[in-house]
Amino acid sequence: MKLVVVIAVVLAGLISLGLVLTPLGLSLVGLQPPDAEPPAAKTGNVVALQARQAQQMGAYLAQAGNCMGCHTAQNGQPYAGGHILATSIGTFITPNITPDHETGIGLWNEQDFWRAMHHGQSRDGSLLYPAFPYTDYTKVTREDSDAIFAYLRSLPAVKQRTAPHLISFPFNFRPLLYLWRALFFTEGVYQADASRSDEWNRGAYLVQGLGHCNACHTSRNPLGASQGDRLGGGQIMGSNWYAPSLTSLQEASTADWPIQDITQLLRTGFASRAVTTGPMADVVSQSLQHLTGDDARAMATYLQSLPESAPYSRGIAPELSAEVDRQLRQGSEIYETYCEDCHGSLGQGAPGAYPPLAGNRGVTLASPINAIRSILHGGYAPVTAANPRPYGMPPFAQVLRDEEVALVLSYVRNAWGNRGSLVSAVQVDRSRKGVQ
Ligand code: HEC
Ligand code: HEC
Ligand code: HEC
Repeated sequence: MKLVVVIAVVLAGLISLGLVLTPLGLSLVGLQPPDAEPPAAKTGNVVALQARQAQQMGAYLAQAGNCMGCHTAQNGQPYAGGHILATSIGTFITPNITPDHETGIGLWNEQDFWRAMHHGQSRDGSLLYPAFPYTDYTKVTREDSDAIFAYLRSLPAVKQRTAPHLISFPFNFRPLLYLWRALFFTEGVYQADASRSDEWNRGAYLVQGLGHCNACHTSRNPLGASQGDRLGGGQIMGSNWYAPSLTSLQEASTADWPIQDITQLLRTGFASRAVTTGPMADVVSQSLQHLTGDDARAMATYLQSLPESAPYSRGIAPELSAEVDRQLRQGSEIYETYCEDCHGSLGQGAPGAYPPLAGNRGVTLASPINAIRSILHGGYAPVTAANPRPYGMPPFAQVLRDEEVALVLSYVRNAWGNRGSLVSAVQVDRSRKGVQ
C-alpha cells in the first residue's frame, strides 16, 4: 500500500507535466482512427443475411470476451451495466452497453465501438480506464469488433443509468490516462506468427485478445499495468485471489498435460488433477464453456506451448522437525474429521464430484490464499452445460478456528507427496478480514 501512496503523490505532481505531455501522449499512442474502407454495393438480401451472420458471430465472440460477465450487475439485465469491480485505484461501476440512446451505446457506430475496443477511447473522446481490458482487446481484429458491435446492437435496449465510478484522487482525473497509456499501452491487432500452425495462432489470438487471460494471470504494478512475465501469475487487484502462473510447472502450466485434458479444463472447469474455483470458475461458466471444440483446442495448443518460467514466488517446504511433525499430525486429525469423507483418505477425491487434493497444484501454490479461501468460504466448481449442478465445498469459517484451518491446510500441503510451506493462523486471520 505504501508504494501506492508514493506513486499517487508522484503522479499528482506529474499531473501538470501530464498535461504538457498530452500532445506527445496523443502522438505516441496514435489516436488517429484508421482509414475506413468504402462499403461495397450489395443487394438487400445478401446484406440482411450477412448482418444476421455477423450478429451470430458477434454473440459468440462476446462470450469469448466475457463482456456480459463485467457488464451485468448481480441479478441485473444482461449488458445493462452496474457490475461492481474493485481495483487498486478504486471501485468501477461498469457502463450500460445495450443500444439505449440515453444510457447505453445506442448512438454509437461501428467506428466509435472500434475506437473503444482498439484504442480504449469512448465516443466523446475521453480515454477509458484499463479496468476495461482494452489493453488485451486491442488485439481483436476489426472484423470481429464489428461483429460484436452488430450483436450488441441487436440486444433489447435497457434504460439504466449507472452510478459514477468511486475512484480516489488523483486517479479520478481522466487525463492522467494519457500518461498511463504512453507508459503502459501498446495498441495493435494480433499479428500471426508465420512459423506456427493456424491452430496455434488462433489460440494465441483468443488467449491474448478476447480471452484477456492476461488481465488476471499477469501481475500488475500499483497503477494497474501488467508487469513481469506475461501470464507469469499474480494476485488479482482488489481481491484475495491469486491467479497462478500459466508458464510455471509448479503452478498452472499445462506444458506436460495432454491436449484433451487442457481442453476439458477450459470447457468444464474439471480435469484429473485440477478444478477451477472462484473467479476462474466464473470465467469457465460465463465464457470458456461456450467455446467451440476447435477454439478450445486451439487455446489448449497455445497454452501447452508457452515457454516455461520460474514461478512468481517460490514456496518453501518445511524442514521436518518434531514440532512440524506434531503440527502435521494435528492437521491430519482435523482432516479425518472434516474433510476425508469428500476428499478421500489419500486425498484422491472422487472423479467428477470432489477434486483430488493429492498432486493438485492449486493446493500447494507458494501463496496459500486461494486454498485458505476455499476452506473458509467453500465454493463451487463452475456451472456448465456438462455439469449443471456441481458439488459444493461447504464453508468452514464458522466451524474451524484460524489455528485449525492453518493446521489442516499445512497437512494437506504436505501429505500424499505434496510439498508446500506451512500456513500460519495469521494468514488465515488476514484472509478472514479481507486484508491483502
Ligand atoms: C473486467 C471487466 C470488463 C470486461 C470483461 C469488459 N468490460 Fe467493457 N468496461 C469495463 C469498465 C470498468 C468500463 C468503464 C471504463 C471507464 O469508465 O473508463 C468499460 C467500458 C466499456 C465501453 C465504453 C462505454 C462508454 O460508455 O464509454 C465499451 C463499449 C465496453 N466496455 C464494451 C465491452 C465489450 C464489447 C466487452 C467484451 C469484449 C467488454 N466491454 C468487456 C469493464 C469490462
Ligand atoms: C477474472 C480473473 C481471471 C481470468 C480473466 C482468467 N483467470 Fe484463470 N484463474 C484465475 C484464478 C483466480 C485462478 C486460481 C483458482 C483456480 O485454480 O481455479 C485461475 C486458475 C487458472 C488455471 C489453473 C486451474 C487449476 O486449478 O489448475 C488455468 C489453467 C487458467 N486459470 C487458465 C486461464 C485462461 C486460459 C484464461 C483466459 C481464457 C484465464 N485463466 C482467465 C483467474 C482468472
Ligand atoms: C461435502 C464435501 C466436501 C468436504 C466435507 C470438504 N470439501 Fe473441499 N472441496 C469440495 C468440492 C466439491 C470442491 C471443489 C469446489 C470448488 O471448485 O470451488 C472442494 C475444493 C477444495 C479445495 C480447493 C481445491 C482447488 O483445486 O482449488 C481445497 C483446498 C479443499 N477443498 C480443502 C478441504 C478441506 C481442508 C476440507 C476439510 C476442512 C474440505 N475441503 C472439506 C468438497 C468438500
